[in-house]
Amino acid sequence: MKNTARAHTNIALIKYWGKKDADLRLPLMSSISMTLDAFYTDTSLLIDTEDKKFILNGQEVTGPAANRVFAYVERLQKLFNVSGNFHVISDNHVPTAAGLASSSSAFAALAASFVKAYNLSVSPKGLSILARLGSGSATRSIYGGFVKWNKGTNSANSFAEVIDEKPQMDLKLLAVEISEAEKKLSSTKGMKLAQTSPFFKPWIARNDEEIAQMEAAIKSNDFTKLGQLAELSASEMHAINLAAQPGFTYFANETLEIIKLIQELRNKGLECYYTIDAGPNVKILCQKNSCSNIKKYVKSILPNVKIVEAGFGPGITYLD
Ligand code: PMV
Repeated sequence: MKNTARAHTNIALIKYWGKKDADLRLPLMSSISMTLDAFYTDTSLLIDTEDKKFILNGQEVTGPAANRVFAYVERLQKLFNVSGNFHVISDNHVPTAAGLASSSSAFAALAASFVKAYNLSVSPKGLSILARLGSGSATRSIYGGFVKWNKGTNSANSFAEVIDEKPQMDLKLLAVEISEAEKKLSSTKGMKLAQTSPFFKPWIARNDEEIAQMEAAIKSNDFTKLGQLAELSASEMHAINLAAQPGFTYFANETLEIIKLIQELRNKGLECYYTIDAGPNVKILCQKNSCSNIKKYVKSILPNVKIVEAGFGPGITYLD
């Protein structure tokens, strides 16, 4: 039995950017995301093997990346009182060109594969909690469509739930790859530093309101409101980073060029919004019939960037 699980990546529309408890990955804020169809990870967990291995895209991985995966599986083993060696075999269908972090799909797929391998009866809510222990953003990748991660107050009540699994909203994401380089500052370190910004607390104080507004935009199928709120959440996160002590930014020069272009396109009547995670790449939120025009405009100022288009993706599925 390969116990293969598939999880799709998600993009946060209301950002998670701060931990209350680093070990349990309890967030300081609730977040809302869109699961993406174009990018996913397939992971198989083989148990009771002779040795321990992590194989990613056909290559054995060693060092810190493998240690994080081993420590995570061992943590779940302890929680469920099981033991033994294992092989984690993952295929990442998250093109570098997408500029999207794959940790959301990676840990969601691994958590799902773990419960299958040990034949454990775990609800989707339970799976979301287990995924959270691997990576915060993975909490939301258990479900498809629009998803909310309620911050909660402890490990048992910090999990994601579906807002709308099969949304009707005309919404596409264009992932614009500016740089394939690994991010210099991990999200864990960035989140810690961000809390030194004087704007961090006021931002947290706005979280309930921002979540409520985004949920209302989703429920009323309001693309404009959703785009405005998503762009605001990303701008707040990156402004906070600039005002941290010491300040830092994930932006590259091209990141700002695309932000300016998006503002110009809106002035021309071509509606689109940006969101940006812990790296320089920009994700453009737009509607289906404007995708090709927006791609042309981006290429006209930055001819060498790669752009990948995505729509709504599903939640966890099992392949065998
Ligand atoms: O859970 P991590 O370490 O992948 O951090 C995710 C942080 C952001 O992508 C910037 C925001 C988010 O909510 O996904």
